[in-house]
Amino acid sequence: MFNLARTALWYALKDIVHAEKPSILVPEYVCDVVTHPLIDLNFNIIYYSMDDFFEPIWNELDQILKVHKVDYFLLVHFFGQPTSLLNTLIFCEKHQIKLIEDNAHGFRGQLNNKLLGTFGFIGISSPRKNLEMSEGGVLYIMGEEFNSEITLKQSKTTLFQKLKKYLLNPKLFISIIRRRFIRTNTNYSNPLYSFENIQGYYKLNNEKINIIKNADWDAVLNNSRDRWETLLPILVTKYRLNPIWLKPFPDSNPWCLPMYCENLEHRNAILLHSEKNKLGFMSWPTLPKEVIFTKPLNIIRWNKLICIPLTNDKYVKNILNDTFK
Ligand SMILES: Cc1ncc(COP(=O)(O)O)c(C=O)c1O
Repeated sequence: MFNLARTALWYALKDIVHAEKPSILVPEYVCDVVTHPLIDLNFNIIYYSMDDFFEPIWNELDQILKVHKVDYFLLVHFFGQPTSLLNTLIFCEKHQIKLIEDNAHGFRGQLNNKLLGTFGFIGISSPRKNLEMSEGGVLYIMGEEFNSEITLKQSKTTLFQKLKKYLLNPKLFISIIRRRFIRTNTNYSNPLYSFENIQGYYKLNNEKINIIKNADWDAVLNNSRDRWETLLPILVTKYRLNPIWLKPFPDSNPWCLPMYCENLEHRNAILLHSEKNKLGFMSWPTLPKEVIFTKPLNIIRWNKLICIPLTNDKYVKNILNDTFK
């Protein structure tokens, strides 16, 4: 296992030899960090757009293929929901493109009794998210979890390492101090407010591997699915949020529940209220800079989307007891 899912992606792609710069289709609505390994490995990223239900715009993809030779298709199972997987498998088969599944939001979720991440040529997942850990990324290659010896240094989270991270990145340090102590200063309207720098590539230490291996994943999955259904009507009435999917996909393991706000002001008011009352609501992470600056429709969606945590007991309890006007 790896420190992060993005490391798993980098590791899987780093040794593939290409005659030319390989091209990869990547959803415009993606988190910036997924593009870090692709940029590092000199991939030609071709963005494709999605609708508000996270379905790729298929006719646009057909147009892209008329102009570009494409080697890989990155499909994100947004919020652990494999809504577009079957269509994407057909598309990739038809055009002889290798599928990469990003199941960072739904480790151990399945479709038709098969683990998400094992349908593609490569799959990645981020179990750290479901377990609220700082590290833990998984790689699947050709349908199997990658368990071979990993030729990377082991990640360490000693005090020195943490300090080093801040010393090398004073901006990160200042933003953390600000968020902790001057809460109202977070500018949620800035699409770069949660920007993450490029992180190191490490293998996971044994202690964390054991936590992930020994977790009761059936319980995690059932808990998240139940909470999705319990919280959704409350979120609609209490916070005036609009659902995207009423129920999670069968056998999926949603890390969080996505909903739409009325507009940016509504979303920001909820984020501020959440920060003050420890509800754990999140915006979608930072989009790739290229998307932010050249594809404004994604900012319109980013302004409206809010993500509600399903794995943290304290947050869920606070949401249930919360009053919001
Ligand atoms: C869709 C998606 N893919 C990949 C990642 C990367 O996961 P990790 O933070 O474990 O590298 C993220 C996360 O932040 C994500 O939202």
